Amino acid sequence: MFSSPLHDRGVIARWRPYLPVTDATPVVSLNEGSTPLIHSPKLSALVGRGCEVFVKYEGLNPTGSFKDRGMTMAISKAVEGGAKAVICASTGNTSAAAAAYAARAGITCIVLLPAGKIALGKLAQAFMYGSKVVAIDGNFDDALRLVREIGETEPIAIVNSINPFRLEGQKTASFEIIDVLGDAPDVHIMPVGNAGNISAYWLGYREFHQLGKATKLPKMIGFQAAGSAPIYYGKVVENPDTIATAIRIGNPASWSLASAAMKDSGGACDIVTDEEILAAQRWLAANEGIFVEPASAASIAGLLKCQSDRRCDVCPMRFIPEGSRIVCTVTGHGLKDPDVAKDAIRGISTAPAEKSAILRLL
Ligand code: F0G
Repeated sequence: MFSSPLHDRGVIARWRPYLPVTDATPVVSLNEGSTPLIHSPKLSALVGRGCEVFVKYEGLNPTGSFKDRGMTMAISKAVEGGAKAVICASTGNTSAAAAAYAARAGITCIVLLPAGKIALGKLAQAFMYGSKVVAIDGNFDDALRLVREIGETEPIAIVNSINPFRLEGQKTASFEIIDVLGDAPDVHIMPVGNAGNISAYWLGYREFHQLGKATKLPKMIGFQAAGSAPIYYGKVVENPDTIATAIRIGNPASWSLASAAMKDSGGACDIVTDEEILAAQRWLAANEGIFVEPASAASIAGLLKCQSDRRCDVCPMRFIPEGSRIVCTVTGHGLKDPDVAKDAIRGISTAPAEKSAILRLL
């Protein structure tokens, strides 16, 4: 299919015909996108039944998460519209991306974060990229409500995923998967927080299907953290809680779009516990060399839950069909959240600086 020479120039350059940009749009890019789709022999073996598993490693974007795909669009369009400042609520990755792209564009970025609930790497990014950071005494849902209120009265562009240009940029991940596989996968598994990303992937898959660039549509399976699972439970969670702070969200903005994606594709919304998330995070790092943040590991934990020997009560498929091609999106880099990794560092062996002492320890 496509083998674009533009793949190293960012998602707007690579996928321009499919994005709402014109020659008048000033492209603000950090060469995001074109992330690797890594075949995982060990996950494939675990799932068995002739299935092949691929990991879309979005942590390799410029600010370490998939948000860069949407932010190149949101910031480019904001600048095109004359914005001098942008604002977002975030659990950390949106703010990192907004801050970086705003810095690149030379405009002001304001970020509202839930105090005490942002992973250290993400907080460092917001400051290093020079945004104005306000930690609010509330959760992400409160922060997003405030952002909407501020956007109504102030001349500041909102770059959360309620901004439709965000989803347009993020849908390019589906294009890339189809480009590499030569068709859409059979099953796509991903974490769900504010629910924009799964909606964007579904948009991208449907678009390329309609254009005849894919012969099929994948079943979209979204995983929420058990303590923050409004879509799974079908009701707003007032006090969401999970170790996967990126998806600690009780009232997702793209709830209905995401629900439609999962339902219309014949997929499902399910949950994974914090223990399952942490186990999957370690498993992926130690077995495939792919270090992702906890929220991203929800995809892998989810896949393990979908494994062939465990009949699923939630999913209309019950089992992942034999011979399926499965893609799991891992959304953010493991270095974003060093505190969660701290436990793994415990038990470090110390030795005098002598070869024999070291060999004795091995
Ligand atoms: N994974 C990571 C690493 C995230 O940062 C997010 C969302 C998600 C998954 C879920 O994606 O919200 O589109 O369903 N992070 C947002 C933020 C909320 O503020 O960075 P979603």
